[in-house]
Amino acid sequence: MNKSMFKQLEEELSELVKGIGYKEGITLSVSNRPDLGEYQVNDAMKFAKLYHKNPNEIAKEIVDVFNKTEYFSDINIAGAGFINLSISDKFLIKFLNNINNNVNTNIDTKERKKVVIDYGGANVAKALHVGHLRSANIGEGIKRLANLVGMETISDVHLGDSGLQAGIVMLEMKERFPDLICFKDGYDGEDFDLPITKDDLKEIYPTGSIKAHEDEERMEEARRITFELQKDNKCYNILWNKITDLSVSDIRSTYDLLNCEFDLYEGERDSFKYIPDMLKELNDKKLLYTSEGATVMDVKEESDTKEMPPAILVKSDGAYLYATTDLATIYGRVKRFNPDEIWYVTDIRQSLHFEQVFRASKKAGFTPNTELKHFAFGTMNGPDGKPFKTRAGGVMPLNDLIEMIYNACYERINDNIVASDKKEDTAMKIALSALKYADYLPYRETDYIFDLNKFTDLDGKTGPYLLYSTIRIKSLLNKAKEEGFDYKEYKQISDKTDKEVILTLLNLPNYINRSYESKSLNDLAEYLYLLTSNYNKFYQEHRVLAESNTDLKESWLVLSKIVYDTNMMILNIMGIDVPEKM
Ligand code: ARG
Repeated sequence: MNKSMFKQLEEELSELVKGIGYKEGITLSVSNRPDLGEYQVNDAMKFAKLYHKNPNEIAKEIVDVFNKTEYFSDINIAGAGFINLSISDKFLIKFLNNINNNVNTNIDTKERKKVVIDYGGANVAKALHVGHLRSANIGEGIKRLANLVGMETISDVHLGDSGLQAGIVMLEMKERFPDLICFKDGYDGEDFDLPITKDDLKEIYPTGSIKAHEDEERMEEARRITFELQKDNKCYNILWNKITDLSVSDIRSTYDLLNCEFDLYEGERDSFKYIPDMLKELNDKKLLYTSEGATVMDVKEESDTKEMPPAILVKSDGAYLYATTDLATIYGRVKRFNPDEIWYVTDIRQSLHFEQVFRASKKAGFTPNTELKHFAFGTMNGPDGKPFKTRAGGVMPLNDLIEMIYNACYERINDNIVASDKKEDTAMKIALSALKYADYLPYRETDYIFDLNKFTDLDGKTGPYLLYSTIRIKSLLNKAKEEGFDYKEYKQISDKTDKEVILTLLNLPNYINRSYESKSLNDLAEYLYLLTSNYNKFYQEHRVLAESNTDLKESWLVLSKIVYDTNMMILNIMGIDVPEKM
């Protein structure tokens, strides 16, 4: 397990305080009065109540032991017993040299757990929409953060591949290609070529869906085909496998573009094999009953204040539903991986569904050692504050959204800086940084408005600003290398501006911890902006390469390198790529 120097400091100070009789230890927090000190210890007030003593006296006792260390340049007591601390240069210099070779040592790792993370959730044969962007982006970010703090993760895209779209698409196929071998009577599984391309597939579902919604008989037929697919019909299974492969190659390229890496490309249908055993187990445990022909399971609890309908597991016609495949997927995941936790990253509107499934799983005893958690997110809205729509009024396809932001970024590329053969790649990286960073910036459950100009502003709290600044540090470091100037050790702090940057680095573990606890990268997104803007202030005030004092120059370059590495580490958690130039 790795412990950051901030954590080590806090623990050591806690030990000192325990040594003088306050067994609770202390918390070291960033000061909200930077004029008095950089950090605060506010525990004297708490101890005063617990030990029936004067808080000021306690504060004095604590200050006395702190004064014996070399960690502080100033300690003072304010008000009723607030202790203000300023960190000594000696400590900060040691800190920088400690993390210089590996900025990953500036984080606190946690007890290792095995976590299955379910995110992405694209639907086979349907276009990804903006909600899928949020699941992919937030899920991947949380996964990378979990890995950084020491978790073992298994990521699963959990494709939607057993819903009504299967019936709708295959009904269309049947009409368009009636001679396809799989539709012949007595078909027994011979192989055949799928007579459609990816582009055809993009048109088939929307067309079929409109037709089915206008004609109840067609809809009924689509439902029947979907049902047949669930019940092992050879034709529909083989055909749907082929359609799934075609669609998944497309889905994969979108996830690749977003830097989403899944260990498993499984789907709802992969849970089918567990459904019979699962239903039998539920039945044996007398948890199932019939309601209006459907097989359901009660998940109400006495303490419920809101309505909690039973989970429907088998419809009256024998068809499985969303809850069935999700519960069976849990059943399978526990058997295969026995994870400590399973996390779901989906839209907040699916909260009731997950509550039902989690309760069913617990009640059935499927997950005695596994915690199930839903990390929900809010909606990306259009400029009108309502869920983002296309001009025609449909949901916004993700590819259209990416294209829109890509075009804006492409137009702004400076041809004097970016070579023509790098232009497209650079524009895409900038566009994705804009989209991803803006998606991380609000707390995950908060809705936000898509604002192209705001997200791509080079001077704002944006992905492009962060990329630009990071590239600028890289180029400074390259120039020093070209000069042949070697920088290895941080030697001296020159002024308040460098100190501010160093303190910001020292605080990184707090932001990482907060983001990890909340499973929301908003704290880390704020941090990245804070570190970058503090560094930019330093950059503006110091002429690093022109500096004649070589100790200072070396120190500044080491600091620049650490900021660069830290930025890269965080951008990597966010799945944001940095272009060479922009
Ligand atoms: N396919 C679903 C959708 O598009 C999301 C799947 C979420 N994951 C899950 N295990 N239910 O809404």
